[in-house]
Amino acid sequence: MNTRALAPTHLTLGARWRDWWRQALQQMYASERLYRWSLNNPLTRRITRQRTRQLFGLMAGFVHSQVLLACVRLNLFERLRAAPQTPAALAQLTGVNEPDLQRLLLSAVNLGLLEHRAGGRLGLGPLGVPLTTPPGIAQMVEHNHLLYEDLRDPLAFLRAGPGGAASGQGDMAAYWPYAHGGLAAVQAPEAEGQVGRYSDLMADSQGFVVHEILRSYFFNEHRCVLDVGAGQGHFMGALAQHAPHLRLQMFDLPPVLARARQRLAGQAWAERVQFHPGSFLDDPLPTGADLVTLVRVLHDHPDDVVRLVLAKAHAALPPGGVLLVAEPMAQEAEAAHTPDAADAYYHFYLMAMGAGRLRTPSELGALLHEAGFTAIETIPNAMPIHGRLLVGRKCLP
Ligand SMILES: C[S@@+](CC[C@H](N)C(=O)[O-])C[C@H]1O[C@@H](n2cnc3c(N)ncnc32)[C@H](O)[C@@H]1O
Repeated sequence: MNTRALAPTHLTLGARWRDWWRQALQQMYASERLYRWSLNNPLTRRITRQRTRQLFGLMAGFVHSQVLLACVRLNLFERLRAAPQTPAALAQLTGVNEPDLQRLLLSAVNLGLLEHRAGGRLGLGPLGVPLTTPPGIAQMVEHNHLLYEDLRDPLAFLRAGPGGAASGQGDMAAYWPYAHGGLAAVQAPEAEGQVGRYSDLMADSQGFVVHEILRSYFFNEHRCVLDVGAGQGHFMGALAQHAPHLRLQMFDLPPVLARARQRLAGQAWAERVQFHPGSFLDDPLPTGADLVTLVRVLHDHPDDVVRLVLAKAHAALPPGGVLLVAEPMAQEAEAAHTPDAADAYYHFYLMAMGAGRLRTPSELGALLHEAGFTAIETIPNAMPIHGRLLVGRKCLP
């Protein structure tokens, strides 16, 4: 094939030069001689080793995640929290043969989940400690086995097309009924129990993103906040303490808000909350708030739903009001290969879920702009892997 014929002709000189350089690098990486040479030089040896480790990590990643899942299912992190244990004691506690368990334990040590301690005992490693502290990383690991099942045959998954795994038929899609059926799907008899399951998981895992919002966005200018897709009210609870001057409104599907209302009953800050059950597919959003928040909501939905929700948020806000979107966002093309990005995970997760997609801040910004928001900007935050923040303002008349 003549690849020259496929090269775009409208590229700037700078872009052509960068492409030429990347192509030259690609050829260098492919050279066996250069590989051998790089191992003789301490500086290049480091680079070559690092690349090899990264590639090996990609190949072995599915084993690593199963090691993690096995540790979670055997409750190893909880068992080792109080005190280190010997492999023999752990074998007795878990009911797994000691020689077989030993392989799991050594693998977990190698991955930083566990650590060798004195007297042949094992304790928690640096990556094992967070598995024992709230909020729910272990629950996230456990529910990821649904995604693992969906991805068993990645090409079948990708080719499933309409009606297949990628459009709401797989295990992960069943976990999130609203993503392909709105209110009717969560009220269906077969969805019994699912609302509680996903709402609990969200409440357990929301702490990380809430922390990012509270330490990066200033709420002083606002009087009332409407959280759309509020779930069990974890964010509202944290915000109530963080900014005691705020009035709060929660909007979510009726079965979700019914659970939230029960959960929050008796908490002092709940007196400052108004509950607004409804579906943003069918109902308008309540007015009265000067800040609307969408925390981990838009990425669950296709562009037409996102347009609808943003238009409703715009209509609900007074002039000068602000919209804050907080969710995982894709890297922009120029920074696509960033080590702390979680793009691959979310691209596949959201495809398995059925309807949404991971968007870059520019893509979301364009949708906000279309809905009428101005002064759109990202707010830098410390841990973008938990979610990034984007704000837009409704114009003053
Ligand atoms: C991924 S969860 C995020 C929940 C919470 N904001 C968080 O970060 O933990 C998405 C939320 O949007 C709600 N939701 C989904 N479809 C909805 C709809 N049509 N109308 C209102 N809420 C909806 C779900 O019930 C769920 O609580």
